[in-house]
Amino acid sequence: MREIRPNLYAVGAIDWDRRLFDELIPLPEGTTYNAYIVEGSDKVALLDTVDPTKSDVLMDNLTSLGFDDIDYIVSHHAEQDHSGSIPDILMLYPQAKVVTNTKCKAMLIDLLQVEEDRFLTIADGQTLSLGDKTLQFFDIPWVHWPETMCTYLQEDRVLFPCDFFGSHLATSRLFVEDEPLVYEAAKRYYAEIMMPFRSAIKKNMEKIGKLTIDMIAPSHGPVYDKPEFILNAYRDWVGDAVKNEVVLAYISMHDSTRLMVEHLSDALIERGITVRQFNLVATDLGKLAIALVDAATIVLGSPTVLTGAHPKTAYAALVANALRPKTRFASIIGSFGWGGKMVEQLTGLLANLRVEVIEPVIARGQPKDEDFAALDKLADQILAKHKQIGIA
Ligand code: FEO
Repeated sequence: MREIRPNLYAVGAIDWDRRLFDELIPLPEGTTYNAYIVEGSDKVALLDTVDPTKSDVLMDNLTSLGFDDIDYIVSHHAEQDHSGSIPDILMLYPQAKVVTNTKCKAMLIDLLQVEEDRFLTIADGQTLSLGDKTLQFFDIPWVHWPETMCTYLQEDRVLFPCDFFGSHLATSRLFVEDEPLVYEAAKRYYAEIMMPFRSAIKKNMEKIGKLTIDMIAPSHGPVYDKPEFILNAYRDWVGDAVKNEVVLAYISMHDSTRLMVEHLSDALIERGITVRQFNLVATDLGKLAIALVDAATIVLGSPTVLTGAHPKTAYAALVANALRPKTRFASIIGSFGWGGKMVEQLTGLLANLRVEVIEPVIARGQPKDEDFAALDKLADQILAKHKQIGIA
């Protein structure tokens, strides 16, 4: 338990050891599940809880504050890393009401079997007085789920946006101190969690942009006591501008695709284009996601296996397709022995991306002079496309 401001406390938990979220997303730096207590002159509110694996930490922190009762548990988001301890807290504080919107209420009933009479349902923009402190609630749908909302503590001008602006970063620091470290963690978080909802995020940024915000206290990672740091980063990430960069993600089984990747990579570098190359044999998915936040072009490289793409390249395509980056162009390079549908399969897997596909380069067996010439032409085309949109 730590005091952020007078009568505002951080009571969440640090999860130093967690290495995977949703059994999919790597967490190389662990994470935190932030929960906050706002103590008003009349009432006390707990904003979010923690992952159920850390319920004991939250309950110890609350007990150490010595409140006989907590009046409100504000639930911003039904995902269990924030809501999972609500049943334990409701048992500890039998008078407490869960404050949330109607969508989140329905989800908490479905996911955690919270009883109907434990809720106080609020609407977008509604306020709740704690005496000398006032909570105002705003719906921020799709950041991260459709029910997500945030709280603005009016007197202190603190925004509690739950997942929005968060970072998976286990740290004992309450506030952002090492900005480059937090920037990388927040960008990873944006790429993995937020990027699919880019247009919703833009709208929600406009909505919260009307508030005067002195501090942003998210539900993962450190608190931003200089909010412009993360607001500027988000403006950049959700904006439509892309960078003169190519993400080159590939698998090679017998070196044919690798030789093509290396040739294309050199050709792009010679043309002044930044290359972010990922051998998918052992790639941190988060690093690939981060690279996709800004890159103008993605090129997938794959051999042909059992008539299709190598499953690891197909997996990368599936992930990129789900993350919906603002990438503008795509192509495919690779090889085959006797035939197959590798190109059609990978193109189909990228269907969500609004990309212009530049003609793929596929070699029969080892790449030969004409294949290398085709890769040079592909590099020329990528450069021309980047020039066309004014980034090269
Ligand atoms: Fe941190 Fe969408 O939960």
